[in-house]
Amino acid sequence: MSSELFIGLMSGTSMDAIDCVLIDLAEPINVIDFINVDIPEKLKHDILDLCQEQGDDQIKKLGETDVELGKLFASAVISILEKNQISASQIQAIGSHGQTIRHQPPRQNNSAFTIQIADPNTIAALTGITTVADFRRKDMALGGQGAPLLPIFHQQVFKNIQADKIILNIGGIANITLLKKDDMQIIGFDTGPGNILLDSWVQQNLNQHFDKDGKWAATGESNSELLAFMLEDSYFSCPPPKSTGREYFNSLWIDKVLADYANDISPQDVQATLVELTAISIAETVKGLLETGEIIVCGGGTKTPS
Ligand SMILES: Nc1ncnc2c1ncn2[C@@H]1O[C@H](COP(=O)(O)OP(=O)(O)O)[C@@H](O)[C@H]1O
Ligand SMILES: [Mg+2]
Repeated sequence: MSSELFIGLMSGTSMDAIDCVLIDLAEPINVIDFINVDIPEKLKHDILDLCQEQGDDQIKKLGETDVELGKLFASAVISILEKNQISASQIQAIGSHGQTIRHQPPRQNNSAFTIQIADPNTIAALTGITTVADFRRKDMALGGQGAPLLPIFHQQVFKNIQADKIILNIGGIANITLLKKDDMQIIGFDTGPGNILLDSWVQQNLNQHFDKDGKWAATGESNSELLAFMLEDSYFSCPPPKSTGREYFNSLWIDKVLADYANDISPQDVQATLVELTAISIAETVKGLLETGEIIVCGGGTKTPS
């Protein structure tokens, strides 16, 4: 049997870890192994710095962080190869999404752009494997939202489906792909926040990266008034295609909503309300797209119980 071994590299909006997958794309697709590599705190801090508007010159930091992250991505590849006793020469190519540090989707009268770092040249040099990267900018140059691959991948994986299907990924941002059984057209877009607001608020209040198993949120109660207020954000009612990121849904977004809401509410209740905001914004979108069918849910958001 022929094999077509590839390695995929990704770090999502949450910046929780680098995901590295070793996959055989010969039919049927076979995931051979999957590892996560932690991002050291200093590097994470530098990436987060680059994600924010700053007055000072960031070009040096951008260049350095790009290469540092490239080295870490390369180390993930080397680890997964060693673990599976596979040599670099057996790998056809690495596909590296990189780490998004800025995503400015097309709006009226703006200059849309998206930037991912983790230098693919460094990855190629350190691993000796052909490295394919920069997946998103051509799509933006053509007027898209800059996320062209995931829906096509889903369509390829879920061929000849018997029922309409939604694949929902609850990462930092939540995104969906809608596949229709009788229609080749694919719809894919970001529904809004996934874990990003939950992570921001728990970081701000408990100095933890995330609310493990939603335990802290469970000590609070969702506030329906605040929830309704949050849902007034125009992103939720904006029709697709649309995409968003850390630039929009972040701790400043929470601070602004709370300042405008202007009623006292405990931090736990805010967290519980943010969980519900995530769930409801996803559920409403799904209801609008699919009357009957199947939903496959993935991403770190599956770890927060409902
Ligand atoms: N045990 C858990 N309990 C609650 N949330 C979790 C747990 N494990 C992971 N998560 C959430 O999942 C996020 C990572 O999800 P992931 O799908 O990797 O997102 P991204 O694609 O943005 O990196 C973490 O930041 C955290 O919010
Ligand atoms: Mg992740």
